[in-house]
Parts: sequence; structure tokens; C-alpha cells
Amino acid sequence: MPFSDTDKFARLFGESLSAGTFVKATVGNYKGANGQLQKVTARLVSTKKGELVQFVTKFKTREEAKNLPPADAPAILAGLFEEGFRSGHLFTTKSDYQLAISKKGRAKLTRSAPTMSELPDTAHDRKPNTPLDASRKYLHLLGITTPDGKVRDKKQAKFRQIGRFVSILDGLIEEAGLKGTGQIDVADMGSGKGYLTFALYDHLCNALGLAASVKGIEERGDLVDLCSRAASHCGFEGLRFDLGTIADYDAGSPDILIALHACDTATDDAIFKGIIAGSKIIVAAPCCQKELRPQLKYPGGASPLNEFGLLLERETESVTDGIRALLLGHLGYKVRMMEFVSPEHTPKNNLIAAVLEQPPREGPPLEAESVMRHFGIASQKLHSLLRHVLSER
Ligand SMILES: C[S@@+](CC[C@H](N)C(=O)[O-])C[C@H]1O[C@@H](n2cnc3c(N)ncnc32)[C@H](O)[C@@H]1O
Repeated sequence: MPFSDTDKFARLFGESLSAGTFVKATVGNYKGANGQLQKVTARLVSTKKGELVQFVTKFKTREEAKNLPPADAPAILAGLFEEGFRSGHLFTTKSDYQLAISKKGRAKLTRSAPTMSELPDTAHDRKPNTPLDASRKYLHLLGITTPDGKVRDKKQAKFRQIGRFVSILDGLIEEAGLKGTGQIDVADMGSGKGYLTFALYDHLCNALGLAASVKGIEERGDLVDLCSRAASHCGFEGLRFDLGTIADYDAGSPDILIALHACDTATDDAIFKGIIAGSKIIVAAPCCQKELRPQLKYPGGASPLNEFGLLLERETESVTDGIRALLLGHLGYKVRMMEFVSPEHTPKNNLIAAVLEQPPREGPPLEAESVMRHFGIASQKLHSLLRHVLSER
């Protein structure tokens, strides 16, 4: 009977739930009609209503989670294959199972030794994992931890921010297909005390096993010296800090360009370098977005809201980062705007995360320009820097 292995896969899923051996299941290789759908993951979560199976459906630009009673879960899983998914992985503490469905609809189930022998933590609202190991030497050399590897009280927020940054980058690197590439080049524009630069280097080399070349570019000589000494103490041979300004530095062609808290239009200079270099990933956490503040207008003149300084500041941030995001989108990047950390830790909290996905769109960046017109903006730095690039196409 066609698809009998599919039924068996769903049954094994149900049995592992009943036997308490279920770890997780994933369903992918979608070939159906919904152009947005990508994959579905199932895991157990503990909720006030008891243990439920959480199905997380990943679409191109968003995720949707649904919690269902375990008894309903096998039928839902089986239905996914009818919708057009062509592969499934079931991980249990006893065995792993892989289901592959051919173009002709023939399903084949294979079994292998378990990848995971321990059950996962099912706490529903658990804290996001920090991939940071507090005992790493660089964290001590940079003043985040004590000599015995404890995070200093005053550095707790910074430690969480570094962990969050590494998690975000890890996801983007996976999405950009850079994990299996062997060699990876990164430029960190305005690297400051180097917390994020070191953490990313350590993650790339020691967690992902990549041969990483990471350069921090910084205009303050004392910080370049401090970070260079720490890198050499740690034996981080592929980590280097160069004295220079973002606008003038020849960054080569990094796969990843980051600019975290580079003030005002230094962020535009950095994003521009990444675009020109064809960087696969550009990540910017802008700050001090002042450039547009005197330009923002209301139809017919200055906005009456401008008398409220705080609101004008926030509006300037949103409009500035919105224009940057739209320009990146025009140039083929898939862009997400997210909060870097909880706003209670820092007001400088927008993170622009862009992954190069497709060729640039034809013609001028109409969306960004319509926002500029709407707000009466005559000139925005990234837009101006890109003008010749856009006109050459
Ligand atoms: C607020 S710190 C952020 C440091 C680090 N990126 C982080 O997020 O932890 C900004 C750093 O960027 C440097 N910087 C600002 N503008 C720069 C420019 N145009 N060229 C090079 N460095 C710059 C400053 O000297 C400072 O060390």
C-alpha cells in the first residue's frame, strides 16, 4: 500500500510519546503549493494543561506555534506528508527514524542508532540557551568574568547580550548556508572593547569548527592594543584588530559584516561596505541616529510633535533604520528588524539582520525613497552612498 511507511512513521511518533522516549521530530523538504512553507518541528512542552506537543511551523518570514494533546499529534504529523512534505526525522532515546518520500510518492523508512540518548528539558518558558561558556579565557581578559570563571555582577547584562548576539549570528549563519563552508571571513566595524568580536570568533572556530578570519576595525588605538593583546593571550590566531575608520577601511570581501553601536552615520558607512563587498550577512545595531533629526517634516512644515524631544528621537530612529532596512531589501537582502536585548538593558536596541538571498531589484529603491519623501528627507547617508551603485544598474 503506498505511503505505508508514512503511517508507520506517524505510529512510531505516537508510540514514542506514550513510552516517554520522544525527543523531537522534524518534517521538511516541502514540495506543496504554499510558497511560504518551509518546515515543521515537534517537541514536548510542559504547560499548565500538562504536557503537550508543540508544532512549530516555519514559513519564510515567520513562525507559528500550536500546542496539541499528544493523542492528536500523530494524525497531525501524518497530515503534513499529505500536504506536500517529503521528509521526516523522528528522534527518540531508543532509535532515530528517517522517512523519505520520492517524487512518485513512494515512502521509505529507515532506522538508525539514537543521536540523543537523553530527554530534553520540556519547560515551556525556559530561558533561551546562552551559547556562552563563562569559563572562556577571553571573557576574563575583557573583564566580564572573575579569574574563576564567574560572571561579574555588573557584567551580567553584557554577558546576556553577548550570548544573545552569538545565538542570533548562529541562526543567520545557518540560514545563509555558511556553516559547511570551512572558511569564513568576518569584519566587525567599530569593535570597541571587542566583547562581541571575541565571542563570535570563539563560536565560529570552537563551536562550529570553521577556519575563521575575524577582523575588528576600531578608531581608538588604546582599544586596538587592548584587544590585540587579549587575542594573542588566548592564542586566537585568526582574530585581528586594526586601527582605522569605518569609512576608509578596506574591508576586503567579508562573508559577514557587523557594526554594533557604531554611532550615527558610521552605521551607514559600514552597511555600505558590506553591500559593496557582497557580504552574505550584514548585522547592524545602530545608535545615535541623529542625521535625520533636523530633516523630519510633517506635510506642510515641521511636525507639531517635534516639541516632544523623546518622541522625535524615537521617530528619527525608526525612520532612519526603516530606510536602511528598505535599501538592504532592495539590494537582495532578506531583512529582519529585531530587539537586540530586552529594552530594560539598553535603549540602543534595534538590530538590523540581513541575509543576502537574491539579486538586487531593478531600478531605483522606490520604497525607501517614498518614505524619504513622506518625511521630507532630502538626504540619508546610506541612500547617498548607494546612489552611484544604483544608477550603474
Ligand atoms: C559603542 S562602541 C560599541 C563597541 C562594540 N561594537 C559593541 O557593540 O560592544 C562603538 C565603538 O565604535 C568605534 N567607532 C565609532 N565610529 C567609528 C568609526 N567611524 N570608525 C571606527 N570606529 C568607530 C568607537 O570608538 C567605539 O569603540
